[in-house]
Amino acid sequence: MHMTAYFAGASAPSFAVDSRLEAYAATAEFDRPTLVIDVDRVETQFEALRAGLGRADIHYAVKANPHPAIIERLVQLGSHFDAASRAEIELCLSQGARPEHVSFGNTIKRVSDIAFAHNAGIRMFAVDAEEELEKIAEHAPGAQVYVRLIVETSTADWPLTRKFGCDRDMALKLLDRATELGLEPLGFSFHVGSQTRHAEMWAPVLDELSRIWAAAKAAGHDLELLNIGGGFPAFYGEEIQAPTDYAAAVMELVEDRFPGARRVMAEPGRGMVAEAGVIACEVMLTSRKSERDMHRWVYLSIGRFSGLAETEGEAIRYQFVTPHDGETTGPCILAGPSCDSADVLYEKRPMNLPLSLKSGDRVLIRNTGAYTSTYSSVCFNGFPPLDVVVI
Ligand SMILES: Cc1ncc(COP(=O)(O)O)c(C=O)c1O
Repeated sequence: MHMTAYFAGASAPSFAVDSRLEAYAATAEFDRPTLVIDVDRVETQFEALRAGLGRADIHYAVKANPHPAIIERLVQLGSHFDAASRAEIELCLSQGARPEHVSFGNTIKRVSDIAFAHNAGIRMFAVDAEEELEKIAEHAPGAQVYVRLIVETSTADWPLTRKFGCDRDMALKLLDRATELGLEPLGFSFHVGSQTRHAEMWAPVLDELSRIWAAAKAAGHDLELLNIGGGFPAFYGEEIQAPTDYAAAVMELVEDRFPGARRVMAEPGRGMVAEAGVIACEVMLTSRKSERDMHRWVYLSIGRFSGLAETEGEAIRYQFVTPHDGETTGPCILAGPSCDSADVLYEKRPMNLPLSLKSGDRVLIRNTGAYTSTYSSVCFNGFPPLDVVVI
């Protein structure tokens, strides 16, 4: 669908926007960079993923976007939740989630948060280290745990690296140790890497992890749960599969490789909410560093510290909509507004933007509903954090 929206800007007349969300972001008045979220779009995405995930329980990864309106809608739809901290647990419970539907998925937890979660009725906890098991055994006695496996072969755009998970031998040891400590080891979890663009990219990871699953079974562990984490992609300009097809293809790969998994859990974050959000910001300045400079610099009112942290390493390449689209374009180095030299969004691969773009023009950034508002610093350089509006 293409519609033309007009906004009350002094110079540029119109945007070609492709949704109700973008039409709103193009026309409403904002006095600072603002993420506009369409909660109906989250619902559509949830249903699409659910259709493909079949028997898997969806635990929405709250960290992707913890706006209460999103959590509330997902509770109504029957979603479960993956929480990273006490605050995320409290948020889910305050929006009506049942504690047994909230898992504490961070492998690094404060002792007081473990105790809080236990007292609040949270039953499932992630672990990847013996010390974490001991903390849980002491502060959440009898809890259910799943052991996070390390994924070192991710081909995702935003891999989760060696920070999380443990290897096969450690995982088997932790299962034994959990039982010794009076905990209930349920199975394994992993994360294939965020923004894994195609379902077949999961296959090598699942192959490797299924061997660990088989080894645990052979060692006498009656594993019931496989938590396949997140990784479900959003559209940032490069082709991706539709969510239902993607999720169904992932589940097929899972069912082939983990025949004994009685319970499967998935934790989509980005894939659930990214396409439900658009950021409205403005051009602060355009310039060239010399008369001979081939590139223009375009400084936006939003940058690395005010919501676009995932431009780190130019890993996530957002799509920009301007009121001059269709006019002649040229390569631009895109940067944020702060007095910090790291606040450059795209330089290695400059963005092509209209040459007529200038200070004051509104710019929309597509599919930015995930990992933006919560990454936004509170007041770096005195810039206010990304505002959020729900339509
Ligand atoms: C434990 C866990 N589950 C799920 C997710 C969500 O991943 P994604 O946004 O790629 O779906 C994350 C993201 O960091 C995570 O840490």
